[in-house]
Amino acid sequence: PQPTPSIAPQLAQTQPPEVHRFPIQPLNRFQGASASIKRPREVAHFSYDDNHEYRDDESSINYYLPPPVGADLKEGFDTFRHYEEKEDPHLDSLLKALAHKESKDTEGSKTKADFVTWRGMMTKIMTAPYDTFAEFSMFATLHDGTIYIEEDFPSRSASRAAESSRPPPRHLHPDQQSQAMMSYWGYKFETLSLIPTLPSTTPPDQIRKHQQSITSNHAQHCSIVHTSFGPHSLLLGGEVDGLLSPKPTNPDTPIPWVELKTAEELPPPARQQHRDILKFERKLLKFWAQSFLLGVPRIVVGFRSKSGILRGLQMFNTHELPGMVRRGTACWDGNVCINFAAEFLGWLKETVREEGVYSVVLRKKGGVVEVRKVREGTGGIVSEEFLAWRKKQK
Ligand code: A3P
Ligand code: MG
Ligand code: MG
Repeated sequence: PQPTPSIAPQLAQTQPPEVHRFPIQPLNRFQGASASIKRPREVAHFSYDDNHEYRDDESSINYYLPPPVGADLKEGFDTFRHYEEKEDPHLDSLLKALAHKESKDTEGSKTKADFVTWRGMMTKIMTAPYDTFAEFSMFATLHDGTIYIEEDFPSRSASRAAESSRPPPRHLHPDQQSQAMMSYWGYKFETLSLIPTLPSTTPPDQIRKHQQSITSNHAQHCSIVHTSFGPHSLLLGGEVDGLLSPKPTNPDTPIPWVELKTAEELPPPARQQHRDILKFERKLLKFWAQSFLLGVPRIVVGFRSKSGILRGLQMFNTHELPGMVRRGTACWDGNVCINFAAEFLGWLKETVREEGVYSVVLRKKGGVVEVRKVREGTGGIVSEEFLAWRKKQK
């Protein structure tokens, strides 16, 4: 067998660490009504500014406006200001925002949950049952009754580096686009669909000017929600693309966030084949899980041609997607995803019971999530700043 590539230093012990396994199949054990879920509620938020610097505010919130159909999403590729993480971000910004929130709370109430992680980690977990090629690598640590989960950044950046050093295919079909271009047009779609001011009160020339501005993914607005899967409570942080209308002041009112996505246009109905619908509905699983987790109620899909021309727009209600797919190709079941995640979190609670860093890995075509303790300490998963803040509160 291949030795396990691990960037985290191994535990100094003679015995190999105990490996705990959670098989994904068979899925029928997750069928039926879904575990009870609470509607996610925002507890904190933060922004990254145009230099990707952290800010305790709403400065990077944008509003949605329908982008011009016919636009070429390839435009501006050469001037794209692409932010790529060079250092391990851990959970630092999320924890900074939580500490900030706690410091403002008059009752001094702590923002506590069984799990704290980025939304992206939960998306990977929730969608694993229906992705035969799913793979992930995360680290988890138990601190003061909470399990903190982060992405295995060293292994992700290693696989990205390997990907980008691979020479691009020598002969691209005229319809084919490079990976970099395909990733760019998702951001270009956002530039065309989002502005920092309310569209109804923004002069049209200002809107046009904004739409023609240089595309950058440095700025972001992140929402941190409290949610639960069955008996397990979670604090999740993730990027929200924009608002459909101003953010309500009443914390009990759902926030009208909108998630923006691009997808390849479907052939006209007369030429549509089962596999076209299947491809799209498979994509909807990711869109749904990602939005569901943060309580994002609407998803706008920009349909584009193979060469990146925006051909049409459609707005979906997030909560209607599982039913739509059930009546369609039935290629995934939202209840199974929710029940799987609830069971998995319960199992993780039983497994990560001591302090230390645990690796949580799903290998490609592995079908089994493996958890093993890889070292002592918290591995930087919980920032020093946050540890100090919590200590001060005690
Ligand atoms: P699309 O998903 O429309 O292609 P998000 O939808 O999560 O807000 O991300 C915005 C865009 O970032 C994506 O738009 C895509 O272009 C790019 N992107 C996100 N995650 C990516 C990844 N893992 N690899 C490449 N591009 C990614
Ligand atoms: Mg986004
Ligand atoms: Mg998006």
